[in-house]
Amino acid sequence: MKSFKPNKKIKDNAYVGSIEKYNEIYDYSIKNPEGFWAEQAERITWFKKWNKVWNWDFDKADISWYEGAELNACYNCVDRHVDNGYGNEIALIWEGNDSSESKKLSYNNLLTEVQLAANSLKSLGVEKGDRVCIYMQMIPELTIALLACARIGAVHSVVFGAFSPDSLESRINDSECKVLVTQDTGVRGTKNDIPMKANADKAVKNTPSIEKILVVKRTGSPVEMEPSRDVWWHEAIASADSTCEPEIMNAEDPLFILYTSGSTGKPKGVMHTTGGYMVYTSTTHHYIFDYKPGEIYWCTADIGWITGHSYIVYGPMANRAVTVMFEGVPNYPDYGRFWEIVEKHKVNIFYTAPTALRALMKEGDDWPKKYNLESLRLLGTVGEPIKEPEWMWYHSIIGNQKCPIVDTWWQTETGGIMITPLPGVTETKPGSATRPFFGVLPELVDDDGNVLEGNNVEGNLVMQRPWPSIMRTVYGDHKRFFDTYFSRFPGKYFSGDGCKRDENGYYWITGRVDDVIIVSGHNLGTAEIEGSIGGHPDVAEAAVVGYPHDIKGNSIYAFVTLRTGREITENTRTEIAKIVRADIGPHATPEKIQFTEGLPKTRSGKIMRRILRNIASDNIDDLGDISTLADPSVVESLVNNRI
Ligand code: PRX
Repeated sequence: MKSFKPNKKIKDNAYVGSIEKYNEIYDYSIKNPEGFWAEQAERITWFKKWNKVWNWDFDKADISWYEGAELNACYNCVDRHVDNGYGNEIALIWEGNDSSESKKLSYNNLLTEVQLAANSLKSLGVEKGDRVCIYMQMIPELTIALLACARIGAVHSVVFGAFSPDSLESRINDSECKVLVTQDTGVRGTKNDIPMKANADKAVKNTPSIEKILVVKRTGSPVEMEPSRDVWWHEAIASADSTCEPEIMNAEDPLFILYTSGSTGKPKGVMHTTGGYMVYTSTTHHYIFDYKPGEIYWCTADIGWITGHSYIVYGPMANRAVTVMFEGVPNYPDYGRFWEIVEKHKVNIFYTAPTALRALMKEGDDWPKKYNLESLRLLGTVGEPIKEPEWMWYHSIIGNQKCPIVDTWWQTETGGIMITPLPGVTETKPGSATRPFFGVLPELVDDDGNVLEGNNVEGNLVMQRPWPSIMRTVYGDHKRFFDTYFSRFPGKYFSGDGCKRDENGYYWITGRVDDVIIVSGHNLGTAEIEGSIGGHPDVAEAAVVGYPHDIKGNSIYAFVTLRTGREITENTRTEIAKIVRADIGPHATPEKIQFTEGLPKTRSGKIMRRILRNIASDNIDDLGDISTLADPSVVESLVNNRI
């Protein structure tokens, strides 16, 4: 087994530079969590301190942190840096889809822009506690919109810019957003007119709660504006007041909602609150990325996902980092784009997803070798298990064998990184997220909930106690919060992931154990896709599973049964794919669709996905026990007709 120790230079300069120090802090954080998290909370500027560090009862899914404390997330990310004399320092480096376009915003600039945007939202009727939906591509106004919401105490709900109008509509309705912020059209890679406003227009036909749409002019392409409802961002800020005091928020006031796919039903509105989230994201960003003042930090995620919320915006900005935001994609105009940006902005810390690394690795070493990557000193990954080949490529070709790699395991629900190496401490092993972060107490349990003690064990990954940025509820459905995370193993938070602990106590995430499929780092619920396929008039039933894919990690395989008497035409497949694209988005489109007379079901009618997963992955020699199937003969036909 390969393993890699941090080099002396990294260790000597890191905030935590030895395993002894890590053990000491970790032990303290576990033995005295309230003491530890009270100390870490000092990174945040509070208007009023808390009465109690934590209160929790997993049996009721009740969790609060820093109860009674007051703060403002935007104030912590912007104002206080200006107040402390750092206003001229760069906050945001924005790199456009075309390399000719880039912009730098100082903390002073950001403060100005955020106040104007905050007052614009207020003038559209947004008040503290109102929900604001944000549906944009990666442009500076997206970051500004988040911070503006936080400033006035509005709860943002960002919907990833590739979601379809239907997905946008259902998310807006679920949290009854009052205002929608979007842009005219978007540019991303070779796509130069992504119809953001037109999609928004379709969505809001059925969203009674939306009163106003605020539209950023990004491309200048013509879009329809409904005069009584739609307002241009540039016009709103031109007439907005320049000062807007940050609202005083309680630590447990909601900061944002972010939807994530679940194994059943519609997407869940994961709700995060203010105090604990700010403490945890800033603490993890500080230690895990070992961020030093002045360093250039680039997380390539989209702000439409939790990684962008926590590690482009809130964590880094609370730490007064220089954070890079990129509008484009890794392969436009060519496969050297990431590395060109690293060279151009002298990026020191680079955080990306395994799927991007696999796509880039496939194109060969010449692309990264064209650029000077000497500035890099720390690399990170997130979103799905990273396998050894891409880890080694990252380590040798991108990191020139000198950069530690932090493989960070976490979830939308956890708000921040939970299991990870620390750069100055951990001897990393390719593919392992290694050890828990401070204050995090993971456990592995078998399917009956028995705790698996010791090393060399594999089971379900649970957490024994909360950490400050754990989600607080599923918006509007606290029962679903309890049922999803705290009912399977009573008294514990269940992550939905399988995991093994090796002989050194290192954690290795093995993937989802529920019906969530991670495609290119995006979580997709099988139930949601099946529901969408079922919308085709000829479809009787569908079952969707994941199968391994070289670049995307997993891809989607749909087994579809048509209604009696319906014919498969040459268009059926494309029609189904089109429906899924329209209902959810292009990232959810099945790569393979197999039509079948029947699905493998137990006598009680439950589809045995294990069998379908094996067929989709071509593991046909070991399909497992099929004797409990109502009709075992369907299996043979499924195997013979696999794609
Ligand atoms: O299965 C795990 C996988 O991504 C899931 C969470 O997805 P999402 O909520 O979209 O958040 C992604 C960004 C934090 C997890 O349940 N996952 C995330 N990071 C890793 C990972 N699997 C293996 N290794 C990781 N480093």
